[in-house]
Amino acid sequence: MGFVRCDQAPAWAQLQHHQAVGDGDIRAAFGRDPQRAQRFSLSAAGVQVDFSKNPIHTETEQLLQALAEQCGVAPWRDAMFAGEPINTTEGRPVMHWLLRQPANSLTGALAEPLAQVHDTLNAMLAFAEQVRADRQITDVVHIGIGGSDLGPQMVVGALHQPELTGKRFHFVSNVDGHELAAVLQGLKPHHTMFLIASKTFTTAETMMNAHSAREWFVRQGGQDIARHFVAMTSNTPAAAQFGIHQCFGFWDWVGGRYSLWSAIGLPIAIALGDAGFRQLLAGAHAMDQHFCSQPAPTNLPLRMGLLDVWMRNFQGHATRGIAPYHSGLRRLPAYLQQLEMESNGKSVDRQGQALPYATAPVLWGEPGTNGQHAFFQMLHQGTTVVPMEFIAVRTATHDLPGHQAALLANAVAQAQALLMGQSDAGGHRQFSGNRPSTFVWLDALTPERLGALLAFYEHRVFVSGAIWGINSFDQFGVELGKSLATDLSKRRDSNDFQGLDGSTAGLLRQLT
Ligand code: F6P
Repeated sequence: MGFVRCDQAPAWAQLQHHQAVGDGDIRAAFGRDPQRAQRFSLSAAGVQVDFSKNPIHTETEQLLQALAEQCGVAPWRDAMFAGEPINTTEGRPVMHWLLRQPANSLTGALAEPLAQVHDTLNAMLAFAEQVRADRQITDVVHIGIGGSDLGPQMVVGALHQPELTGKRFHFVSNVDGHELAAVLQGLKPHHTMFLIASKTFTTAETMMNAHSAREWFVRQGGQDIARHFVAMTSNTPAAAQFGIHQCFGFWDWVGGRYSLWSAIGLPIAIALGDAGFRQLLAGAHAMDQHFCSQPAPTNLPLRMGLLDVWMRNFQGHATRGIAPYHSGLRRLPAYLQQLEMESNGKSVDRQGQALPYATAPVLWGEPGTNGQHAFFQMLHQGTTVVPMEFIAVRTATHDLPGHQAALLANAVAQAQALLMGQSDAGGHRQFSGNRPSTFVWLDALTPERLGALLAFYEHRVFVSGAIWGINSFDQFGVELGKSLATDLSKRRDSNDFQGLDGSTAGLLRQLT
């Protein structure tokens, strides 16, 4: 497939010109166009997005869509959905979407992998139902890190109803022993099930935590490792060597940060049950279908991925804030950080050539309304403009009167304040306004809606990565620190500081 690098595509120069001569006054654009909110809002699979409070016009979007065409985003998407090896540096297809594809719905080369997906899914869900019914198991401890932690932790946090399962879920990721120790305190081995989640089954943090958990289990008189330890991995021999026989596998075409749909999602399946997990997959599949079939003007992930490119490369925003207005989504910012920054935090193109333009912004965030009483001061009056993303859920599952209306009013008010500002106060009470934000609505936080929301973000990240011409599916940037940590551990043990820079040597001496 031949590609035009985005900065050499004709639309790139047109966008630069459009930005230079354009009118960035978003407030004024609302005044001119009473239809603006509708014009720049779109829904797909129950995810409704109002992106009208961004510095865009119809022409901006036309040029962005031309850029997508010139950079071959649609053929690249089709290559992903055809199972071609678009993870070029690792020579792998990228098929997390296949994990939510309905059974028997594909013919040809992908029919067999799909059948394997459903065999594993059915086995995993049957096991999850068994664990749900097992009253002896009161605590599920999930051990994994990165993509083997953030997705499951976030979804369980969003959707688990402890009163239905009678189980507590704990997530341990950090090699910092304080985390595991705090979880183990108060647990009883015969009431605990450990899920060891690692695609490679070699990740240092996970292995250390898994070994410590097993030692604790035995020390506390735990009898049956085979019953109390389960692995989710694509390296089943390593899991067997660890002593785990109950193992759910997946494939090298599932990237870590895209793996919650696979066996890595076992804690989700235990928390939601067979039906809930299938609804999560169905929501994501509905978004997949939307992304694959909708033309550019009605394609939500495409338009939002292009908006991200506009904000990064033409508006110069190096960061984006995420403010979920639902406490169940408190881990969503961390999940999105990995999704976007590990995928698109690259500075070379697919051929390894250095890029002259910016790629992934810094993502960060906290749930509202807490953030309002912390960093929102800077968002409203600071010298750096930060595009914000509000994610709100219309209905609540609690019955405390007044809370939901107050919560949602706050979300809408923050977006309004960023846009409208306050110009008549002057001095310390002046708000410049014209600060961009996007508002994402879900009608309810259900498995189906959350599945659609997460697939929306996956595809949106795909789109900006495709425009930038990078490989969004490798993560070599995490390797150097890992190997240096191994090297430093050895050096510390042998007191060998030779060849280290002065600062590193000084820090290391303090560890000995
Ligand atoms: O350190 C990066 C990374 O490889 C992530 O991409 C991945 O999600 C995480 O580590 C965990 O990897 P594994 O599932 O192999 O333990």
